[in-house]
Amino acid sequence: MRKLFNTQPIFSAVLFRCKYSTAPKSVATVRLNNKDFISDDYTNITPKIISYLNRNLHLQKGNPLSLVRQCIVKYFYSSFTHRGHPAFSVYDNLSPIVTAKQNFDDLLIPADHPSRAKSDCYYINKDVLLRAHMTAHQMELLRSGLDNFLMIGDVYRRDEIDSTHFPVFHQVDAVRSQSSKELFGEDQDLKIFEPTYDIENPHNFKNSISDPMKQSCHTLEASKLMETQLKTHLLGLVYYLFGDDIEHRWVDAYFPFTHPSWELEILYEGKWMEVLGCGIVRNEILVNAGPSNSIAYAFGLGLERLAMALYKIPDIRLMWSTDSGFLAQFNTDNIQDKITYKPVSVYPQCTNDISFWLPSNVTTDSFVNNDFYDLVRDIGGDIIEQVSLKDKFIHPKSKKHSLCYSIVYRHLERTLKQEEVNQVHKKIEQAVTDSFNVVIR
Ligand code: DAH
Repeated sequence: MRKLFNTQPIFSAVLFRCKYSTAPKSVATVRLNNKDFISDDYTNITPKIISYLNRNLHLQKGNPLSLVRQCIVKYFYSSFTHRGHPAFSVYDNLSPIVTAKQNFDDLLIPADHPSRAKSDCYYINKDVLLRAHMTAHQMELLRSGLDNFLMIGDVYRRDEIDSTHFPVFHQVDAVRSQSSKELFGEDQDLKIFEPTYDIENPHNFKNSISDPMKQSCHTLEASKLMETQLKTHLLGLVYYLFGDDIEHRWVDAYFPFTHPSWELEILYEGKWMEVLGCGIVRNEILVNAGPSNSIAYAFGLGLERLAMALYKIPDIRLMWSTDSGFLAQFNTDNIQDKITYKPVSVYPQCTNDISFWLPSNVTTDSFVNNDFYDLVRDIGGDIIEQVSLKDKFIHPKSKKHSLCYSIVYRHLERTLKQEEVNQVHKKIEQAVTDSFNVVIR
């Protein structure tokens, strides 16, 4: 899971004015899924990003993400039943266009939280964005009366470019709620809530998260029992996917919408890899959505990471491949088949550097890397494998600031010619000059 929501709101977001916008100045709307949205100075969604909408890789037969999705759904369907029916309902077709209220406010994410920054999200305008996490739908589904559900879909975050990061990825997010009877059975002595919390007047209670063990409205036994269930269920899922030998560790975490919160890491190729975030849902969210007499856990996990580890897929861009040599490897009717990805063939990379002087009002620290990455991807498309900052430099005399990035180009299905790369690179230089007012060195 990428660090976006698991930061405490200590620092307020620095919202850099984004010079780079592909929308012509005269056009005041953005058309998405046959709907027009009025653009404003928050609009930073690009044509490249728009082209990923509606691809629905998680539902596409033969895509590894779809296989992992089916495994996860099967695990939850078979582990939890209610009178012979699955206890979880699954939503895998919710529109990724959400309001800032859904993505942030409903989840108690403060107005100045860094995850709202324009440099991290794809805004359609100030009030509407491409969801940055599937948790954005938690409130609406709770409000519609559901208590156990999975939400699966594509999420969008502005980020660096390398083999494990892509601006679109997929998440499974879930909520499991328990009433007192479901949690403690017939044992009437055990309670979900402290006596000072009045189920009839939940808004009168000032819920606090200062105790690291639990929210102040919950009893220790309810919170601990939910924590045990949450951890057992998620560990069960990891064992189901990877087998019993997989090593794991729980790490304390912070999310504005849960308390307490944790992340689960698994040992993959000798390194700890974070695969999910989870916690006990903040009671304020349940109360705002309706139920004031239950306790719930929630979690969100990233499908790409799991698929890459499960099938040993070395590059996240492969998930988007339409190459039949790739898709055929995952085209199985038995979702539990042990599949190991075999490279169709590996084509060579080309690396070109780009260096430029920044305009006098921009420093190497205030320059928004994500604006640059988006522009590079917009011009270069899917042949961009990696962009990394190589050097920062301040001229001793002129005090001008300069940046140098390496751009690695590689086509996944054929060898790129250096000339062809040079042409794309020239276009990127031109676009960077035009958009950021820099001077190529
Ligand atoms: N939405 C979080 C993210 O994308 C992950 C997450 C954490 C989801 C805790 C949850 C949760 O539902 O309870 O980083």
